[in-house]
Amino acid sequence: MTTNRRMLIYGAGGGIGSTLCRILHDQGVRLHLAGRTETKLASLAQALSATYTVGDVTDTAFFARVAQEAGEPLDGLVYAVGTITIRSLQRLTEADFLNDFRVNALGAALAVQTALPALKKSAGVASVVLFSSVAASQGFANHASIGMAKGAVSALTLALAAELAPKVRVNAIAPSLTRTPLGENLLGSEQMAASIAALHALQRLGEAKDMAALAAFLLSPQADWITGQIIGVDGGRSTLRTKG
Ligand SMILES: NC(=O)c1ccc[n+]([C@@H]2O[C@H](COP(=O)([O-])OP(=O)(O)OC[C@H]3O[C@@H](n4cnc5c(N)ncnc54)[C@H](OP(=O)(O)O)[C@@H]3O)[C@@H](O)[C@H]2O)c1
Repeated sequence: MTTNRRMLIYGAGGGIGSTLCRILHDQGVRLHLAGRTETKLASLAQALSATYTVGDVTDTAFFARVAQEAGEPLDGLVYAVGTITIRSLQRLTEADFLNDFRVNALGAALAVQTALPALKKSAGVASVVLFSSVAASQGFANHASIGMAKGAVSALTLALAAELAPKVRVNAIAPSLTRTPLGENLLGSEQMAASIAALHALQRLGEAKDMAALAAFLLSPQADWITGQIIGVDGGRSTLRTKG
């Protein structure tokens, strides 16, 4: 399938981001990649005939540079950048809270803000996809910092969806634990992975392709009447209890 769609993907070097980029490339979407690690972006960009910008989202000047290098118009924007800080309240520092907020929430806001002129120039309805977490709607111990930051992403999704309609749609995906470099940090052993998988009604952990498939759909014209939604892709973790 070929299209004239152009999209900007932050976190393109990550597990979910890179899987999504491959799906979009196969659909004929032209991509601009943004990320932190040059080696990952350079090889992906070469494979996908994409352009790219390297930088860190804690540097606010990065966003203007990305927007300029991505160019106009843009039909889609994805912010698949994130952290997982799982630590008790006693062990969390001010720096942990601020970094989680900057990387997950403020970065998402600045990514949309700087890309907005290009998104408004889309010939159709442009689509933004952000990443929240199951930890934004469920209370989990040791998730105070990441839960707070991802809760901000969910609220940002709703506010921007209202403010940018009808020209731009804004939705978020809320994953449960997913096997990517980020998720693997929490999986000390296969035994631990199996015990966490068993907490999900569907009895497995997430895979990058589970998130990427929904992101690709939300970016497509087939999703043109969906905005302001925070959609759990979580094996049932946010809504179902199969025991007790
Ligand atoms: N995996 C899970 O269990 C899970 C659960 C809930 C929500 N999520 C969310 O899903 C989204 C995608 O995550 P993922 O699972 O694909 O994780 P991932 O594979 O680790 O990808 C995250 C990406 O964020 C980039 N990144 C992190 N800090 C950055 C910074 N300061 N500046 C620039 N880039 C930075 C990483 O860059 P490098 O490649 O250079 O490291 C990486 O490419 C994130 O928003 C995450 O919070 C994931």
